[in-house]
Amino acid sequence: MIHRQTSLKLLDFHPSFDDLGVEILAGLQRTPKTLPPKYFYDQRGSQLFDQITRLPEYYPTETEVTIMVDNLDEIIGLVGPQASLIEFGSGTSTKTHILLENLRELAAYVPVEISRDHLIDAAEHIAERYPDIEVLPVCADFTKPFGLPDPAVRPIKNVVFFPGSTIGNFSPDQAQELLDTMAQIAKKDGVLLIGVDLKKDKTILECAYNDSAQVTAAFNLNMLTRMNRELEADFDIDAFEHRAIYNEVQDRIEMHLVSLREQTVEVAGELLSFEDGEYILTECSHKYSLDDFAQLAEPAGFQVAKVWTDADQLFSVQYLLCKSA
Ligand code: AVI
Repeated sequence: MIHRQTSLKLLDFHPSFDDLGVEILAGLQRTPKTLPPKYFYDQRGSQLFDQITRLPEYYPTETEVTIMVDNLDEIIGLVGPQASLIEFGSGTSTKTHILLENLRELAAYVPVEISRDHLIDAAEHIAERYPDIEVLPVCADFTKPFGLPDPAVRPIKNVVFFPGSTIGNFSPDQAQELLDTMAQIAKKDGVLLIGVDLKKDKTILECAYNDSAQVTAAFNLNMLTRMNRELEADFDIDAFEHRAIYNEVQDRIEMHLVSLREQTVEVAGELLSFEDGEYILTECSHKYSLDDFAQLAEPAGFQVAKVWTDADQLFSVQYLLCKSA
């Protein structure tokens, strides 16, 4: 594989291709079969996700942006000057720009992202647009521990930024592990600024993940196309369909790829059999109450200091202080 070069100082902990292949195969050999949601985001998957964020049914992105804009002065005041902004994700979002445009004398901006090309594109774009900010990209799977770069200016505090309610794509146990990692990165007296999607009427949720333009369906099915290309798989894409349902017991949207017939598929040299109607669980998107989330974050040493929501209580942006690390 040819890797994209950059003049930025890149810290590279990119997992080997083999690691990801092993993880995928292990998931497909479980019952129910699963795929890791991070596998959505190849180039096409990232483009499709970008389209999802602009769909009329997909309320989280627009709501989160509105919450941030409406409460910007307070957010900026709480973060204060000379922070290091460490974003878990590549930083292509409007939300990143809202912070970069408004935070004062930022010590550094550190995007952490598994997809190297996506990371470099986003980081170069940001470095060009904000020449006064030191941009220090880290290529890493942020679900595993990774090292931080040293900014030229010593940060007063580390602010971990995790927008979009991506925390919801982890099981509560995994989310706690991730919060532990974030606490280690934020360090004592650091901050977590996080977007958390809230529990709500099932109809609103199911519409958001079954959009009428079928972009979410294409996003889900793209996993199969990616495996065909990267793992020598032979999925017949037309033999699977997208499904998204709200699981009220576990408070989560589940995205499935449902096999439309009995079939055998080869992935990385292994044969996998599917029954008619059997599904691969590709993503869970957990929804929280404000209390649930405060309890989830507490064992990692995070204390909720401020919560902003929209008028309909669809989504929350939360500011948590790291009391220990
Ligand atoms: C990235 N993540 C928070 C999205 C979500 O809502 O769980 C991913 C997504 N999947 C389908 N639509 C959006």
